[in-house]
Amino acid sequence: MTKPHVSILTDFATEAAAIFIADLSTAIRQRGIASVVLSGGGTPLGVYRVMAAHRDDALWRNLHVFWGDERLVPPDDPGSNYREARETLLSQVLIPADNIYRIKGELPAEEAAADYAERLRAWAVAHDPGAPNPWPRFDVVLLGLGEDGHTASLFPGSPLAVAAPVIAVTADYQGRPAGRVTLTPPVFNDARHICFLVSGADKADAVHNTLDLDDPVRLPAQRIRATGGGALTWLLDENAARRLDRSDGPQRP
Ligand code: 6PG
Repeated sequence: MTKPHVSILTDFATEAAAIFIADLSTAIRQRGIASVVLSGGGTPLGVYRVMAAHRDDALWRNLHVFWGDERLVPPDDPGSNYREARETLLSQVLIPADNIYRIKGELPAEEAAADYAERLRAWAVAHDPGAPNPWPRFDVVLLGLGEDGHTASLFPGSPLAVAAPVIAVTADYQGRPAGRVTLTPPVFNDARHICFLVSGADKADAVHNTLDLDDPVRLPAQRIRATGGGALTWLLDENAARRLDRSDGPQRP
């Protein structure tokens, strides 16, 4: 398993978007298709806007889009992760509607989780027949980080050993919708490139704790490890990186 690579970006959204576009373009060149798991939260929205300005029909036509987690609200609700990504990215590019696989936040929690697990399984069978597990090996997984160390909807204190690919959870965080559905570490950890996107001084403690301590129960982002042979990258802005020990490796790309 490879160590995480930490990059401190000067122009967070532009540099992060360029990295994802490059990864996805490489996947399309090599395999004719690319898959990305989008993150919820506010941090990636600027990145999505920059990506939306990238004009490359072959990229958007062959891209398949998933989510790492969703809040249990309808797709037009202001709290919907799907809605945020649709407004900032998906409605701006020529991506086929059939390539967008949203988590159905309007369903009861367990039903939404089972529905998504089945769609991951069916996608893997159709597009990635060599996949060893009943879920895709995603090209790019984007993840955020909460001030409490959560990522996707894996919250502090939640069980460590989860085998199911998609689960329903309840968690209160900053007044956001508490009912949620999330992919789990076995799925995230299989990806070819797992990438945390973290900006802002309010995340500096969580970044430092996650990268420098060892407590995956309290710091769920530590459960994300590239165990499938892929790469794990942390993309930070200067503020989010300010508590890191710079002598220990964080570097500019
Ligand atoms: C969600 C998330 C969650 C998010 C973090 C960071 O649905 O809320 O996917 O894990 O990424 O809470 O959110 P911010 O980027 O808004 O700080």
